[in-house]
Amino acid sequence: MSKTTGVAKKSGLSKDKNWWRQAAIYQIYPRSFADSNGDGIGDLQGIISRIPYLKSLSLDAVWLSPFYPSALADGGYDVDDYRDVDPKLGTLADFDQMLKELHKIGIRVFVDIVPNHSSNLHIWFKEAIAAAPGSKARSRYIFRDGRGINGELPPTDWVSHFAPSAWTHESKMGGKHNQWYMHWFAPEQPDFDWDNPEVEKEFLKTLKFWSDRGVDGFRIDVAHALKKDLSEPLRNLDVFEDLPERGNKGKGILADRDEVFKIYKGWRKLFDQYDPPRVAVAEANVHSNRLPLYASTKTLGQCFDFRFIDTPFEASAYKTNVQDALALAAKNKSSSTWTISNHDQIRHATKMGLNPAVDRRSWMLSNGTSHPLDMKSGSQNALAATLFLLALPGCTYMYQGEELGLHEVTDIPESQIQDPQYLKNNKIEKGRDGCRVPLPWTSSGSSFGFGSGGAHLPQPQWFADYSVEKEEKDPLSALSIYRKALELRKKLVTKEEIKWHKTNDLSVLHFSRPNGWHCITNFRAAAYPMPKGEILITSHPLVQGKIPAGTTVWFTKK
Ligand code: NOJ
Ligand code: CA
Repeated sequence: MSKTTGVAKKSGLSKDKNWWRQAAIYQIYPRSFADSNGDGIGDLQGIISRIPYLKSLSLDAVWLSPFYPSALADGGYDVDDYRDVDPKLGTLADFDQMLKELHKIGIRVFVDIVPNHSSNLHIWFKEAIAAAPGSKARSRYIFRDGRGINGELPPTDWVSHFAPSAWTHESKMGGKHNQWYMHWFAPEQPDFDWDNPEVEKEFLKTLKFWSDRGVDGFRIDVAHALKKDLSEPLRNLDVFEDLPERGNKGKGILADRDEVFKIYKGWRKLFDQYDPPRVAVAEANVHSNRLPLYASTKTLGQCFDFRFIDTPFEASAYKTNVQDALALAAKNKSSSTWTISNHDQIRHATKMGLNPAVDRRSWMLSNGTSHPLDMKSGSQNALAATLFLLALPGCTYMYQGEELGLHEVTDIPESQIQDPQYLKNNKIEKGRDGCRVPLPWTSSGSSFGFGSGGAHLPQPQWFADYSVEKEEKDPLSALSIYRKALELRKKLVTKEEIKWHKTNDLSVLHFSRPNGWHCITNFRAAAYPMPKGEILITSHPLVQGKIPAGTTVWFTKK
């Protein structure tokens, strides 16, 4: 096994093996970040051209959503080849250049690994469809005969996130036999059979491929679903098992089975052969009691904690969340992962500008017209929430555009929707395109500076007010506050401990860290007196020396 200490020496990266514990990590959705060649699709040279911008955010790492060859049935989470770059996005040489330049300025890189399913265009699936039932090629996926006299019914009633059935007849993909294959997501995303050791071997090869190139970490897509109970006869189950509130104690049919940890123990062995060890973060939509198993130092090491994504901006809920998440992370000596937005979620500025009683799914289906959105207070609350999270012990994952206070684009015309969550799911959800609209870099010009040839998803006119160009000039903009907070955070990060302080209002939370770094947030109360201390940053200006609602302040106290 090759050791890649050389990479760390030549770069601006710290030697700290624990760099990931309290990192500020920024998610790039490559197709929507920056387009270097004017084809409307973001690419790796686009990212390279924006390295000064990434530097200005004082990040510890970036995580890139998939940039692999893909027909984009699911925004790149349908991977044709795990060890290459989509020609529309660049080449492996571009990737190496990007990695080197990011490392030079001290930013590490996570890539996204999608091990539950490939795309239907992956060489293995093409071979499987062309092969006969019972063949070696088919055994890498989950092919089964159907029910009914002629096998005309799917083998079980399993549901897919996007389909509605989790089974598609092979004839739809050009197969000449009478079998069905299983997919937990779109029909173009066939699930691997992880009971087949060949699959395990193949992914170790992929992880080694990127680790040898110098990649620092991996974000593991649907990490809970690899192992399934495929013993015959298959059991029926017509609901989703991955809902966090269900909790199947490791014995489910399609998700969160205890056997999955054996796979991750094997990955850990590989990660630990590098210096510094490669790291990973699991996307596991499971009961919170199960999260420590994915975040164990013997398995993936870290796991997303999604609890803030659906928490209303409200003091008691925030405090309970923090206490629960810290206790969970401590169980496995991992660190907490604060995240409030990503490429699958309605942007949090928008959630926080809507009346919490509004049903967001129907609001999105109404193109954001059924209820009013208060964009200003949404952006203000979002910034207060971010400063709150950034001051906590642990890691913060941010999603591109949130540093601009960007809102969801709610009115993408039906003809331009790309997301299978809408297209293949009986149109019951508007889908996730609204948070994936290319970023506004300038306030005018072709695609607001995203590229010279338009944008693959339509950008609304109001993007002009949220552009990097405009916000850079305004010291009170979301961008300026993110920049300042992230720079301060680099210096302030200290032991992973927190102490709560009493406040005189239930809607105000105040905590501090062992080095005297204090954070106070007024969620919804009347203007609250500012405690004594030296103010470092405020997410919104104080009013006559008091903290207005929707504001976080960092300060130090001797
Ligand atoms: C989770 C990813 O974040 C999402 O974008 C994708 O659609 C599914 N996994 C399937 O890969
Ligand atoms: Ca491009």
